[in-house]
Amino acid sequence: MKKRKPDTGNGYYPALRQIARIANSELSLRRICNAIAKSTAKALRADGCRISLLGVKKRYLSTVGAYGLSDFYLRKGLLDAHKSLPEILEGKLVFVPDATKDERVQHQQIAEAQRVCSILGAPIQNIGEIIGEVRIYTHEPHVFNEEDRTFLGSIANVAAILLERYGLQQSLQKKHELVQKQTAITQPAQPPNLALRPAEFAHPSEEEFANILDFYCVEWLYEPQSFPLKWDKDRVTEMFTPDFYLPELNLYVELTTLKQNLITAKNRKLRKLKELYPATNIKLLNKNDISSLLASHGYSPIEETKSEGVARILYSHNQIQRRVNSLAKQISHDYAGQKLVIVGILKGVICFISDLIQRISIPLSLDIMAISHYGGNGQVVKITKDLDTSINGHHVLMVEDIIDTGMTLNYVLNYLKAHNPASLRTCTLLDRRARRLVEIPLDYIGFEIPDKFVVGYGLDFKGEYRNLPFIGELRAELIKNGNHLKNIGLTEDIKMP
Ligand code: IMP
Ligand code: MG
Repeated sequence: MKKRKPDTGNGYYPALRQIARIANSELSLRRICNAIAKSTAKALRADGCRISLLGVKKRYLSTVGAYGLSDFYLRKGLLDAHKSLPEILEGKLVFVPDATKDERVQHQQIAEAQRVCSILGAPIQNIGEIIGEVRIYTHEPHVFNEEDRTFLGSIANVAAILLERYGLQQSLQKKHELVQKQTAITQPAQPPNLALRPAEFAHPSEEEFANILDFYCVEWLYEPQSFPLKWDKDRVTEMFTPDFYLPELNLYVELTTLKQNLITAKNRKLRKLKELYPATNIKLLNKNDISSLLASHGYSPIEETKSEGVARILYSHNQIQRRVNSLAKQISHDYAGQKLVIVGILKGVICFISDLIQRISIPLSLDIMAISHYGGNGQVVKITKDLDTSINGHHVLMVEDIIDTGMTLNYVLNYLKAHNPASLRTCTLLDRRARRLVEIPLDYIGFEIPDKFVVGYGLDFKGEYRNLPFIGELRAELIKNGNHLKNIGLTEDIKMP
């Protein structure tokens, strides 16, 4: 092991003082993190430091600040937090004496080629929740003493406060923008990647692209990685940093303007990148290509006329498909060996029931009912189309699109019970608990949603929006008085007398 001067710990105080000062400065998050990474590496006499943040799905680590890594470590792919030193995710400080020989390191050969030897990694924890990691690297074998470890732990704490404050600022800013648009949303079902949203984008088109991705619920990372393209001996002389990485599609995206000279230069860099890193999936996109890119990955382009009433998407087409898949698996498992009758009520349930039955792997039969609502608030229910076949002695699964007050399902369940099924269970795609008037047992639930009126994937507002491939929240201003029950009495399956 290389001999290093023993550290008495005295060097840490000035470093911590400087780091605390930087953390509380008005610089952008990325600059603050870069400066902290530099001070940390220097204080620990390490060769590099990387501060990274876990994405919303707690899977990938993206770099928010780094020092000393450009020419030896940024060549590797995005870090999968579960594959690279996963013990950090358990809240542990992890020491790797030699990264080139350690199975816990995701990119061993790259570590070797790039002269990464010892690594010390600490979790960044925000009130018990792990939100990121800070790691330091040395070229030569190095053992970190107790003081080094305590110091890195303190830096992780500073980073936690910093990232928390940044996330808070971002969400306040978002809330402020939303209030201004008069579409206040109290509890988003799935918050956008606030933590990964940079303080500023290099170009307005990038922000626009990020907004589109948020609208479609596609996870994204901004400028997550730089690819070295040219070297002069050990020194990197040309790098390329794509604008975005979309982990779910495993795709890097570089946005272009329409200027031909810029396109030519970018094309050259992209060709080079593909040559050097053939496993890397990257696309050059201009604004007009965005919807076709998303369409090719199952996010259907939406026409203005169909979606103008939608404030935002709650569940994308792919998210719905994944959820329906797992509900179908559960149902197939629970009813294995039994004969199942699935009953649905027109019309809201059509998309859900059609996707669901195609994924259930046991024999089943399908029966459809239709009902109408009448009375002042549409709370009286009448059956307008009865079951075609008897359910006497059969296992019945009642499938619904959304349970709101619970009145409809309660009525239908009582009706079905009177026909003596062997068993009777319920499955709903959406459950809006906030407005429940009648407590009913729900056996299978797709998603619990906040108290907002939703449309798409079969659900309508005044007969429209059923054909949207996703579930979206209707613009608040379309529902007057904030009472959506009063306003849904006009669809075809909810006729007023
Ligand atoms: P409930 O009887 O109040 O539980 O109402 C259930 C029915 O009202 C559902 O089956 C839907 O047809 C309709 N409904 C309730 N909430 C919504 C919504 O947010 N969007 C569209 N239809 C809804
Ligand atoms: Mg319904």
